Amino acid sequence: MMEPPVDRHLFVILGGTGNLTYLKLLPALYRLLTQKNLKDYCQVLGVGTKELGDQGFRNRAREALQEAGFSSEEVGIWCDSCLHYQSLGKTSEDYSDLASRVESLEAEHDIPGNRVFYLALPPSIFPTAIQRIGESGLNKSSGWVRIVIEKPFGRDLASAQELNRLLHRNFDESQIYRIDHYLGKETVQNLLIFRFANTIFESLWNRERIESVQITVAESIGIGERARYYEQAGALRDIVQNHLVQLLCLVAMEPPAVFEADFIRDEKVKVLRSIAGIRLKEVVFGQYAKGKIKNKEFQGYREEKGVARDSSTETYVALKVDIDNWRWKGIPFYLRTGKRLPRRLTQIAVNFRHPPVFIFSSHTSSEIPSDRLLITLQPDEGFHLYFDVKEPGEPLKLKKESLHFHYKDAFGPLPAAYETLILDILQGEQTLFVRADEAEASWELFTPLLERDFPVYSYPVGTWGPKEADQLIEQEKTTWKNP
Ligand code: BG6
Repeated sequence: MMEPPVDRHLFVILGGTGNLTYLKLLPALYRLLTQKNLKDYCQVLGVGTKELGDQGFRNRAREALQEAGFSSEEVGIWCDSCLHYQSLGKTSEDYSDLASRVESLEAEHDIPGNRVFYLALPPSIFPTAIQRIGESGLNKSSGWVRIVIEKPFGRDLASAQELNRLLHRNFDESQIYRIDHYLGKETVQNLLIFRFANTIFESLWNRERIESVQITVAESIGIGERARYYEQAGALRDIVQNHLVQLLCLVAMEPPAVFEADFIRDEKVKVLRSIAGIRLKEVVFGQYAKGKIKNKEFQGYREEKGVARDSSTETYVALKVDIDNWRWKGIPFYLRTGKRLPRRLTQIAVNFRHPPVFIFSSHTSSEIPSDRLLITLQPDEGFHLYFDVKEPGEPLKLKKESLHFHYKDAFGPLPAAYETLILDILQGEQTLFVRADEAEASWELFTPLLERDFPVYSYPVGTWGPKEADQLIEQEKTTWKNP
């Protein structure tokens, strides 16, 4: 199928001098435009508080792109011909100046009013930026206008609703792209293909055949230089409310009537609405204390630069979710995430039911007789389907073996999530973006947890979280699937 072309447009990045712009957005945009031969279609306007000027921005962008591994000569030409910069304060006059600059760039480069406003800003500035874009008329043009908002989208239900109201005063929902970069990952999108393009799993994908599901987003990194943000966020807001919820929805949703954005998002919202409130006793918070990963010593969270010495911010969350619908009633979904765990791993473990009578108990050494599907979203993207086979010879012995598929063997390296997402924004495709009601339904689930004081259990760096999280899952006579 021919891909729809991208219209000529101006890509305005508010927060144009931040890390996200240099480390993710510009490299993704450059690779995308180069690979798809679209360089002539896009002019970029970086907007920030720094007084950089066009040349200062181009120089900094050139360095960032070279550090990302792109050839210097071509990068230089692109930066000089396609990158521009406008410094901006917060007042209405500043935004009027921005509007004049946008119009003059559009005229100069023959762009018919198509604009992307990418808010790569600290969340506290989202409301002012959205309001000023509206007041200055930047949201109206003779072409299309789209606005992109990075996560976190609000910090609870009330703030997310307020942000949605503000957005809807200035934009139609079809113009709004709420980013959850997990949705841009190939392996996350593949969950839909895996489930709905094949029949073999769909007939097993229910409470009759599945016993439990575990979804893990484990990271070995700590919080780095992000204490200011992380102290306010914590793992529940940073990962659970968005990335883990998206994975949960894609695993649990019903097949959409049509493979189109709103049909898919309708089904995701139905999953969220079917979740009976999360029980407080089925939530475990943890925080990393000093310890080792691969023999390297790391400090605890409270010793990290910028973190309060008595901080109770959670760096780990494990919880159980019950989805009260016909497909899933009674089947526990366990979600967990943590920083400074032994390794980076995003994985979905689907445990199938035990045979009603297991006639081989005395012939197996495996503790887990059920079959299991492990979908690894990163790294080593792919899946393993485990089942029992007979070991050749006597005496009779069963062994777990797997059928497996690895993306890298079949297709080589995968595109970065931001490339996929930016292309979709340019093409007006909203499937991989979070709709207003979806964001609110997710906050509705987690806001009650944010309002409570949970004990925060300590776990040493390099372990799979506090023992209380093991106890949570052991109640169901199962264990976490750790590598
Ligand atoms: C971000 C979180 O959204 O996702 C970070 O703010 C986290 O804390 C990151 O490290 C993980 O993303 P990925 O793509 O590396 O799994």
